[in-house]
Amino acid sequence: MKDFLSVGDYSPQALQEFLDLAVELKKEYQETGRNAPILKDKKLGMIFQKPSLRTRVSFERGMEHLGGSAMYIGPAEIGLGKRESIADVARVMAGYVDGVMARVFDHQHVVEFAKWSSIPVINGLSDYNHPCQAMADVLTILEEFGALKGTNVTYVGDGNNVAVSLMHACTKLGANFTIANPEGYGMPESSIEEGRKFAAESGSQIRLLTDPHEAVRDADAIYTDTWTSMGQEEEAAKRERVFPPYQVNEQLISEAREHVIVLHCLPAHRNHEITDAVADGPHSRLFPQAHNRMHAQKAILAKLLAD
Ligand code: CP
Ligand code: NVA
Repeated sequence: MKDFLSVGDYSPQALQEFLDLAVELKKEYQETGRNAPILKDKKLGMIFQKPSLRTRVSFERGMEHLGGSAMYIGPAEIGLGKRESIADVARVMAGYVDGVMARVFDHQHVVEFAKWSSIPVINGLSDYNHPCQAMADVLTILEEFGALKGTNVTYVGDGNNVAVSLMHACTKLGANFTIANPEGYGMPESSIEEGRKFAAESGSQIRLLTDPHEAVRDADAIYTDTWTSMGQEEEAAKRERVFPPYQVNEQLISEAREHVIVLHCLPAHRNHEITDAVADGPHSRLFPQAHNRMHAQKAILAKLLAD
């Protein structure tokens, strides 16, 4: 496959291969301080329609580790689909760089970009999903528990882009996925159908709940994300009224398994969706998880861009 647009596009075997390579590249880097230059002289173009810390820096450093480099193109530039059509931007970029990572508002824009691009396109977050994040998430869970099959992953909060990709990755790889969201803030019905299909294929369970307390019982990992995603700012006040019962705090994690780990894609809105005590407490894996973005993405870059 040329592109990395959704975890759901890949078979469990292919996802496992990305994870195996991520583990290998991480080990090589940690033991020797470097990786083999398998992307020597390759350039990744990074198009951002929204702000970023992790995605930008982890992709840039990841390319450097593999012998290549990356170019940042910020929200004020290009004017994707406004100054110039997506089809034209995609075909122009393909003559300059070896791969494109794009963070967009509308998922259809990254799909359209990939359709016109002769080089690999990686989705760095859209309104529909966040597949690179999910690969780092399952890598973190795998490192913690040694396996994904049978692990109980509970997402508490908004059924957003991060929840959808996490659900794709868990159900593809045999982890049980539970979400607890307020009524009206669940994942899109079409995504739920995808998750149900993947779970049936891998033999995992998927549960859609509204009670966070029921959802975290038996959880090995509890995951949360912002209540208001980028692009939803005008709904922020309303969301702040709806979501407080879904806060991941010490009381909630005490209701899960004793060894439960807590994950968050970051940026965190402290003492909103997650308390300081939990984010900085013994169950938190927030920073290893953020660091795993780089390791997981190096595997994606290596598989898509290497000759
Ligand atoms: N988790 C994540 O994608 O972070 P950034 O928005 O900082 O890239
Ligand atoms: N759901 C969040 C994730 C940020 C990395 C957003 O889309 O803003």
